[in-house]
This record gives sequence, C-alpha cells and structure tokens, in this order.
Amino acid sequence: MATTGAPRDAFGTRAGFILAAAGSAVGLGNMWRFSYQASEGGGAAFVLLYIGMTLVLGIPIMLAEFGIGRRGQSAPVGALRKVVGAGWAKLGWLFAGCGLLILSYYSVIAGWTIRYAIESIAVGFPADAGAHFGSIAAGGSAVAYHLLFMALTLLVVLGGVHGGIERASLILMPVLFVIVIGLALWATTLDGGGAGYAVYLKPDIEHLMDHKVWRAAAAQAFFSLSLGMGAMMTFASYLDRRANLPASGTIVAYTDFGVAFMAGLVVFPVIFSLGLQGAVGESTVGALFIALPGAFDAMGTVGRVVGTAFFVVLVVGALTSSISMLEVVTASFIDEFKVSRRKAAFVAAGVAAALGLLPALDTNALGLMDKIAGEFLLVLGALLLAIIGGWIVRRQMQEELTQGASPWWALQVPRILAVLRYVVPPIVAVVLFFSARETLQVVVSFFSG
Ligand code: PFF
Repeated sequence: MATTGAPRDAFGTRAGFILAAAGSAVGLGNMWRFSYQASEGGGAAFVLLYIGMTLVLGIPIMLAEFGIGRRGQSAPVGALRKVVGAGWAKLGWLFAGCGLLILSYYSVIAGWTIRYAIESIAVGFPADAGAHFGSIAAGGSAVAYHLLFMALTLLVVLGGVHGGIERASLILMPVLFVIVIGLALWATTLDGGGAGYAVYLKPDIEHLMDHKVWRAAAAQAFFSLSLGMGAMMTFASYLDRRANLPASGTIVAYTDFGVAFMAGLVVFPVIFSLGLQGAVGESTVGALFIALPGAFDAMGTVGRVVGTAFFVVLVVGALTSSISMLEVVTASFIDEFKVSRRKAAFVAAGVAAALGLLPALDTNALGLMDKIAGEFLLVLGALLLAIIGGWIVRRQMQEELTQGASPWWALQVPRILAVLRYVVPPIVAVVLFFSARETLQVVVSFFSG
C-alpha cells in the first residue's frame, strides 16, 4: 500500500513485532491501573477474574485486531473499510479519536512518573508523599512534564515503524523485564510483606461474586492489552503473511499479564510492609504516587535506589505504550490523507498535547477521561471487534489467522473464533451495559458539581 510513493513501513523481525505489541500492552495500565483496580476489587479475586478475562476475551479480540490489520495492510480506518466494508471506516476514526483521548491523559500521568524518576535521583523521595503529590499533580509543572513526555513519544514515532518503534521496543522492553523481576525478588526480602501477599494472592468469595469486580476486570483487560482502539490492528498492518498471528497474540497476552502480576508482587508487599494500605484506596493514583513513594522514603538509601528503578520502569512502560497510541492516529493520517509521517505525527501529537492540558490542570478531568475512554469506549470497541471478527468477516478471519500459523496453532483457530463468536459478545455486551451506566453517572456528577 504505497502512501507517498514509498513502500509502506514494516517490522523487520518477529521479535520486533512481538516486543512492540507487548510494549504497547505493558505500560502504566499494568502498574498504575492494575494495582488500584486490584486493591479495589479485593486483591486476589480481581486478579483471578482478570486472568480469566485476559484469556477468554482478551486473546480472541486481540486476534480479531491482528487479523483485520494484517489483511487490510493499513491503519484502522482503511483496514476496516477494505476488510469489513466502507461504512466501517467510521469506526476507524472512532478508534483514532479514542487513541488521542487516552494519549492525552496518559501523557499527564507519564509526566508525573518522569518527574518522580528525576526527583528520586536528584533529591530522593518526599517525606510527605501525599502533600508532594497534591502540589505537583496539576498546574504548570504537570503541563511541562506532560509536554516533555509527548515530545519523547513524538520522537520515537517520527523514526517510523522499523527505525523508531521496533528499535525502541527491542531495547526498552528487556530493560523493563529485568528491572520488574529484580524488584519483585527484592520485595520478598521485606519484613511484614506477608500481609500484602495474602491480600494479593488469597481470593475471597464475596468479591468474586460481585458484578462490579467482573466489569472492572474486563475493562482492565482491554485497557491493559491495548484492545478496542485499533493499536494492535495498526501494528499488525505492518506484518507480512509469514507472521504466526495466534502464537504472537498469545505471547503478548501472557507477557502483559506476567508484568502486571509482577508489579502486584512489588506494590502489595511494599505497601503492607509499611502499613500504608490506607493510602491506596483513597484515590486512583494513591498506590503509585503516594503510598509507594512514601514507602521508598521510609526505606532510606535502599528505598531510593529501588524507587528510582521502579519509576524508570514506569517511564519506559509508558513510552512503549504511548507510541502505539500515537501511531494509530499518525498511521490513519498517513494512509487516509497521503501526508508525510512527519506532518501526520506532528499534528497528532499536537492535538493530543493540547487535549492533555485539561487533565494536566485538573485531576478530576483526568479521572473523567479515563472513565469515558478506558471504561466505555474501549469496551464498545471491543464488542464491535468481536462482532466483526466472529460474525461479519468470520471466513476472512479464519483464513487470515491460519495464514502463517504453525500446524498446531492453525488447529486452534476455529476454536478461538468460536469463542469470539459465541462467548465474547454476550459477556462484553453485559460489561458494556454496566460500564455505560457507571460512566454516565460519573459524567453527570462531574458536570453537576
Ligand atoms: N496497554 C497500555 C497500558 O496498559 O498501559 C495502555 C494502552 C495502550 C491502552 C494503547 C490502549 C492503547 F491503544
């Protein structure tokens, strides 16, 4: 698919694609969102439901995105038009819009993590982490760090798929894995961490039966796997016919779960060992930006080293995710308007940067945007993708997912598609109903006071 006369960009290696897709998946969602969702959902009960949602809903929907993207060889707008039908191009634009929305507030949170990483090296963690966070979360400096993070994201995307995204992922993802594993091992040495492990690993029936926890686990699976807004579709459009899609999708999903689970193995024991669990549930940012820095401060020099590593991981994870969001929009502009990558990326990042001023100046707006995009739009996108893949273009999906798959994986494709057809839509429809209701309540209460 020539755009501006040059051949379309592509991933150079199988590992490059898998790491880039895993890079998109692994991000603030695995640490920031996962840890507070897990603590709200009763720890282990949430974790169990979340694994279930990843396997039953996440992998099939990811493969629907992979299938449509590779078959369409263009960004979501073009891919949906070519593979599903002209009317579906609109859904591609909804995906691009959702990408811009998430990128805008994601970049604000990522900006905070850059600030924490720099400060932990320069001056250490604040003694009163709550007050410190309150003073930096919104305002001029939040705007500055948000813009800095957006500029970093833009820089990678300007480099293109092979030279920018793939290269960054091949370097950054292994660094992230090593640090997260190191941190989880270190956390086992903490006195009093046992209570944290207990909450994190022992499920209680009450939370398991709560439909709110089910809904939260499903929404978290979509957010964490970057599903429902065309990110995986866009990456898959840069693949050739030899790639083994079902195997790649499964590796990405397990990696994403693995990192989230490891992050929990760090966050829970650290917070419990210092008796800071009260701070976690206070706000969506409590665990990451208040309780953990407080704990790192209380641990002295060790805390400073470990804490720096932790926040560096967050920055790295956030960057490999934000580039995928910016790429969805950039690729849509390149493919649809035949503009250069440079122009497309600058415009997309500019819009997201401007939109991000809102959450950078008002943390309530950030929560609202996360509800609308993370809990509603992604779930809606996921439902539509399941219907498209499982019902509307099922035969093409069967062909596409089998193409390049090893014999064993080829045998699994009909099973995965049966799940996508019969199991995924009803569950996601119920989740969407509750998500829509809750999002509406939050929107109404935001605007009424
Ligand atoms: N999966 C990312 C995370 O867990 O942080 C967030 C994300 C990236 C969501 C890309 C959606 C997306 F398209």
